[in-house]
Amino acid sequence: MVILVAGPSTPSQELAASIAGTINARLVTAKTKIFPDGEHYVRITERLNNEKVYIVQSLSPPQNDSLIQAMLLADAALGAGASSVGLIAPYIAYSRQDKRFLEGEPISIRVVLKALRSAGYDELVTVEIHKPGSLEWFDGRTVNLSPYEYMAGKLDIKGDILVLAPDRGALHRAKKLAAALGAEYDYLVKHRDRVTGDIVMEPKEIPAKGRIVILVDDIISTGGTIAKAAKLLATQGAERVYALVAHALLVGNALEKLKNSGITRVYSANTVIKKNSPILEYIDIGPLIARALSV
Ligand code: R5P
Repeated sequence: MVILVAGPSTPSQELAASIAGTINARLVTAKTKIFPDGEHYVRITERLNNEKVYIVQSLSPPQNDSLIQAMLLADAALGAGASSVGLIAPYIAYSRQDKRFLEGEPISIRVVLKALRSAGYDELVTVEIHKPGSLEWFDGRTVNLSPYEYMAGKLDIKGDILVLAPDRGALHRAKKLAAALGAEYDYLVKHRDRVTGDIVMEPKEIPAKGRIVILVDDIISTGGTIAKAAKLLATQGAERVYALVAHALLVGNALEKLKNSGITRVYSANTVIKKNSPILEYIDIGPLIARALSV
């Protein structure tokens, strides 16, 4: 029987319970605490019987804490008798710094993946990592799940739907979601200033008039991309605009920006900490992850 150890980052416990419920796994909760000096401590109090163990630990914010906890949990699981240990991290922090955009920068995701491997993980299951090619830096089995088709099955949006990617690089996501919904798809044109982080959404004629638009992206961080796209689409006569993303990080005033953009609802997979808002709806992807485990 597969053993799942739920890590402390949010929403790892909820996700671990959902995965365990889907595949009838044994669910173990790790004890954790923080020492007075800020160092993390983890302990797995059950013997792991020479079984394959998966640690469920999203590298969600506070991502530096989540990362060190994930690394400590790998060593704890091997010490408690696991025959091998895989990490289920639906969100992997640092994945957007996947190259040296400016001279003197690190390739942060490479550092993170190598650190996880050296901590003891030989398998990594994630959801919509920013660039799938980054996973080549993890020396072990990797699974990168696309959640869009699964999420499409949970939507209740009726009408003439147009799926849009906020930039050309995200077009493959729009294509998947559109295929699952039997809808058309297209993309907007976005530029980001690498130093200030500001984005500019270029005007582009989109056949949005009177239609229901679903913007699809991997991540909402500051909300700038989706909010600007939603405003642009409103000026182009879209009847309603939704967003569907894998990771709703929603940092700072992102929710305010989204509300002010006139967006009807944001659907997100439950990969990072959840926020409360009438415009937010989370879709549990535990069953999708469960089906991808090598058990
Ligand atoms: C960019 O390449 C990503 O796919 C997202 O579009 C971006 O990270 C979203 O960031 P924000 O919400 O801060 O605009």
